[in-house]
Formats: sequence, structure tokens, C-alpha cells
Amino acid sequence: MESVQSIKQRFELIGNDVKLNRAIEKAIQVAPTDISVLVTGESGVGKESIPKIIHSLSHRKHAKYIAVNCGAIPEGTIDSELFGHEKGAFTGATQTRSGYFEVADGGTIFLDEVGELPLTTQVRLLRVLENGEFLKVGSSQVQKTDVRIVAATNINMFEAIKKEKFREDLYYRLSTVEIHIPPLRERREDIHLLFRKFASDFGQKYKMPTIRLEDDAVHLLLKYHWPGNIRQLRNIAEQISVLEENRTISAATLNSYLPDAAGSNLPAVVGQPKKESDFSNEREILYKVLFDMKSDLNDLKKLTLELLKDNDTSKVQKENENLIRKIYGSHEEEEDIDLEENVATEVLGLPEPVMEATSAAPAMQPQEDRYHFAEEIQEEETLSLQEKEIELIKKSLERNRGKRKAAAAELGISERTLYRKIKQYDL
Ligand SMILES: Nc1ncnc2c1ncn2[C@@H]1O[C@H](COP(=O)(O)OP(=O)(O)OP(=O)(O)O)[C@@H](O)[C@H]1O
Ligand SMILES: [Mg+2]
Repeated sequence: MESVQSIKQRFELIGNDVKLNRAIEKAIQVAPTDISVLVTGESGVGKESIPKIIHSLSHRKHAKYIAVNCGAIPEGTIDSELFGHEKGAFTGATQTRSGYFEVADGGTIFLDEVGELPLTTQVRLLRVLENGEFLKVGSSQVQKTDVRIVAATNINMFEAIKKEKFREDLYYRLSTVEIHIPPLRERREDIHLLFRKFASDFGQKYKMPTIRLEDDAVHLLLKYHWPGNIRQLRNIAEQISVLEENRTISAATLNSYLPDAAGSNLPAVVGQPKKESDFSNEREILYKVLFDMKSDLNDLKKLTLELLKDNDTSKVQKENENLIRKIYGSHEEEEDIDLEENVATEVLGLPEPVMEATSAAPAMQPQEDRYHFAEEIQEEETLSLQEKEIELIKKSLERNRGKRKAAAAELGISERTLYRKIKQYDL
């Protein structure tokens, strides 16, 4: 059975909250069965990844996965969308059409916003869930299908049942297993982690240096009640990444992006403060650092190739302005970089020959000088990564009371590699 950790990596899910882990674990457990699953949770918490996990770990993974947003399909056409229709069933039905339940035979259908289904469709759905039978709209011929249903909702289903908007029998049929995704304010430890991930993604996307929060801003981030959950956090990280010139974000700046910031005084579930040395968080950040480095390296490769292909450096510089800014940052930021970051300062200071070189400049000799900084950076970064690695290994060994097998599994490396590293670092 795949581990929660590897599923998170595969589906790019960030977070280490116990309740989130439990939800993913449940998805892994029910995946091989045909049990109907109802995913619940507020808007924007990340419900949509659960049905994908379930489908990809089930025996249905090679068959179709269809996601249907029940709230977005007009009431008049939803039956036809789901179950198909016969030619002439209604005005405009010029041809027989297969519905999702026919197309996805052998696969999985994700019914998103299932609480929005009209009552008549609920009756049809109940039938197909109970015995796999359905009728095309306008047909009296019963058809069979074998579809696994995963549904999701962000409304209170008990209230919908009470108001007679949702059938109780269907609710129980859909929710054989319920997977609840907690709201972000109950996953305090994950908030900053998610923000850093999004900041880094958007930095890359918009080819700008990654934004960073000052301590006060982190505090505000954790205190805010996040009514729109992860979707809102992502939007805010994107807005700030695009709009703020100064890449170090103060609490006041962050506050200006938080709607109803006063709401942050609402009682939020305050968990334990994040432990500085939380192992899984560090590992995730470390992965991110590695991915960022890889992306920088690719950018540098691209730039180098351009320079080699085209000796006109000022032209290359002009054409790759954004790329250069992304890799080296801008000169205004140079002043903001503190000692800890002197690697970056070096990068900022050194590529000047690239900027200054003229099209007539001979290629080889100056280029060697030009790029010697790359080696220095590599050394520094390798060193800090190595330190991180040693720290991670030590902690894992401590946590697993020196048991190498368990530590290796936790670190996601083979026992042999772990043994080699213990020798190499003299641990
Ligand atoms: N753990 C996570 N790590 C990273 N990104 C996440 C995580 N969970 C959710 N997201 C992102 O947050 C956004 C909202 O998630 P999703 O669309 O699944 O919300 P939802 O629960 O279906 O909300 P709604 O009820 O409004 O449809 C998506 O962009 C998704 O990629
Ligand atoms: Mg959704």
C-alpha cells in the first residue's frame, strides 16, 4: 500500500496536519474497494484531490475518470449529461447520446457539489448506485453500468435533508465512507508551509524572485481565519507575488490583501506553535529548495546556450531580461540581502561581464572568468544542503531509536544508501 507521504508527493499536496494525513490514509484504504465515498469540507480545502487519489489507486485506474460539477450543469440538462438521451427525447435531441454513466463504465465518476443535484436526478442516481441500472432520458430500455462514485459537498447535508432538498436514502448510500478535509484554520502548522510553496510557484511562474514574509507577517498569516481556505491562500500568494515590488512582505502589506482582516480576531483554533525542527516540514522545504535549484539550473543552461549560440550578449540580455531577473534578482534587492544570503549577493555582483560584454567580445577567455561565480555558488549551496541532509539523517535516526531500516524508510532512501551516508558523514 502506498504511503501517505508518497501520495502527497505524487499529488503535490502540501501539509502535515494529522487530520489531513488521516483523510489521505482513509482514501488509500478505501481505494481498492468499490465503496462510495463522500468528501466533505468547506470550500477551497482541497476536496478534489481525494477522488483522484482513490481512482488512481483502484483497480479502475486504467478506465475513465470523469469529474462532474453538479452545481454547474443546468437542471434541464443534467439527467441527459449523466445518463444520456435517446434521439427525439426532447427538442434539440437530434441524436442519441451517451451519458457519463455509460462512458465511464468500469471507471470512476466524481460528483462534485452533489448537494446541488435536483431531486429527480437524485432518484436516478440512487437506482444506479443500488443496482447499476439506469435509463437514458426518453428511453425505457434499462442499461447496466459499473461505475464507482465519489461525491463531494461543501454544504451541510443534514440541513439539506431537513429542508427536503436532498434525499436521506441517497445521502446514506453516497456516504458509506465519509472523508472530511479540515478547514485551513484548523491546520495552523500547514499555513506558512503552503504559503511558501505557492510563493515559490508564483515566483517561478512570473519569473520574479520569491516573496518572503517578515516574522510579523507570518504571525498575521497564522492568525487569519481563512474563510476561503487553501484557494484563498493561493490567490493571495499570487496577488502579492505579482503586485509587490519589494519582495520582503511586512505584516502591514499582507494585511492589505486580507479581506475582512478584522475577522482574524475571530476565534481560530490555535494549535501548538510550529516546532522549528519539524522533520517532515523541513523535508518538504528541502525538496522545494532542490526543485528551485533545478529550475534555476535549467534557466542558466538556457541562458548559456543562448550565449553560446549567439555571440551578441547585449541582444541575448535584452531578449532574456525576465529570465536574468528571475535568476539574479534585481539590483534594488541587493541592498535588502543580509549576510546569510551572501551567496545571492555574489550572484548579483558577478554577472556584470555578461551585461557589459559587447557583441564583438571574444568568447572563450573572458567567459571563463565570467562564470567562475557559478562554482562558488554551487559550493556554498551544496554545503548547506549537506548540512541539512546530515541533520535530517540524525533526526530520523534519533526518532527511530537508531533503527536504520525504519529511518531509511522515513527518509525515502534504501538502507544501503543510509548506511553509506552514515559512514560518509561519520554519524
Ligand atoms: N494540500 C494542498 N497542497 C497544495 N495545494 C492544495 C492543497 N489542497 C488544495 N490545494 C489547492 O487549493 C485549491 C482549492 O482546492 P480544491 O479545488 O480541491 O477545493 P475544494 O475543496 O474542491 O473547494 P470547493 O468546495 O469550493 O469546490 C486548488 O488550487 C488546489 O490545487
Ligand atoms: Mg471543488
